[in-house]
Amino acid sequence: MIEVENLTKYYGDFLAIENISFKVNKGEVVGLLGPNGSGKTTTMRILTGFMPPSSGTARVAGHDIVDQGLEARRMIGYMPESVPLYTDMTVSDYLAFMGALRGMDKKRIARRIDAVIDLCRLGDYRHDFIGKLSKGYRQRVGIAQCVLHEPAVLILDEPTIGIDPIQVVETRQLIKNLRGEQTVLVSTHILPEVSMICQRVVIIHEGQVVAEDTPENLSERLQGNERLEIEIRGPAADVMSAIRGLKGVTDVRRDGGGDRAQYTIYSRRGADLREQLAALVVSRGWGLLKLNPMSMTLEEIFLRLTSEEEKA
Ligand SMILES: Nc1ncnc2c1ncn2[C@@H]1O[C@H](COP(=O)(O)OP(=O)(O)OP(=O)(O)O)[C@@H](O)[C@H]1O
Ligand SMILES: [Mg+2]
Repeated sequence: MIEVENLTKYYGDFLAIENISFKVNKGEVVGLLGPNGSGKTTTMRILTGFMPPSSGTARVAGHDIVDQGLEARRMIGYMPESVPLYTDMTVSDYLAFMGALRGMDKKRIARRIDAVIDLCRLGDYRHDFIGKLSKGYRQRVGIAQCVLHEPAVLILDEPTIGIDPIQVVETRQLIKNLRGEQTVLVSTHILPEVSMICQRVVIIHEGQVVAEDTPENLSERLQGNERLEIEIRGPAADVMSAIRGLKGVTDVRRDGGGDRAQYTIYSRRGADLREQLAALVVSRGWGLLKLNPMSMTLEEIFLRLTSEEEKA
């Protein structure tokens, strides 16, 4: 439903995104995950026809976003990073206005306003001025306008940013409920959000795709012996430097000091350090008190994938 091929965007001579490619299938909810400045908004702005790419192509429901921009845009509901709302309009007037703008007829507008107000739980605020609404409720109005014309594709740029935890939960549920009906691309830098609402995730970092998979597979792929928790009796500084010297170790953290400390050891994918560690401890005459392979949380995977040392 969304096909992105080698999108590249320069702002002046600053390369914001480079050769980004991914697909979102019909009915899928896909997360575009990346830290601040990684290019999420840039990618979405290109997809929604807000600005052209420097190179590369993208298609929405088969329509090229440049050559058939109008057709492509008709298929899309877009919720930008900051939703431009008219604060001196009531919720229902604003929605009616947006419907008219999109060429919907009066009957359909009335029917759809009822539906989206219900969907976004805006019933109590229907006749309130938008300027009066809290941020979270404005966010809901943003989603309501985005789905009003029943677009096949929704592009939501950090829809849960800046709202309170209860509303975050509700907003996520709302997006999750769209699954199957609509195709959704949602950006976020909040990891648990991705596992909660997305079937697939595209991770971008510094304008490039660094991983693309289901949240489950991502954790699995990087699981195994990537992270070990170990407790050693031995002089902490010596232990640290000896572990760092082992082949495949990318990072070591120490918890506690003195002669008995816990260490968390990060290693390259596929490097099984357990035997090396056991041998090391024995050869130095230290004591091995605990050795635990840990699976990585999505949070850690993200940090791994986007940290400089991982790329090296
Ligand atoms: N209009 C612009 N002119 C120049 N540089 C820009 C412009 N918009 C974005 N950038 C730069 O492009 C890069 C990607 O920005 P983008 O807004 O796409 O990131 P993002 O992933 O949406 O970040 P955030 O999580 O903070 O919203 C950043 O380095 C940003 O400073
Ligand atoms: Mg952004």
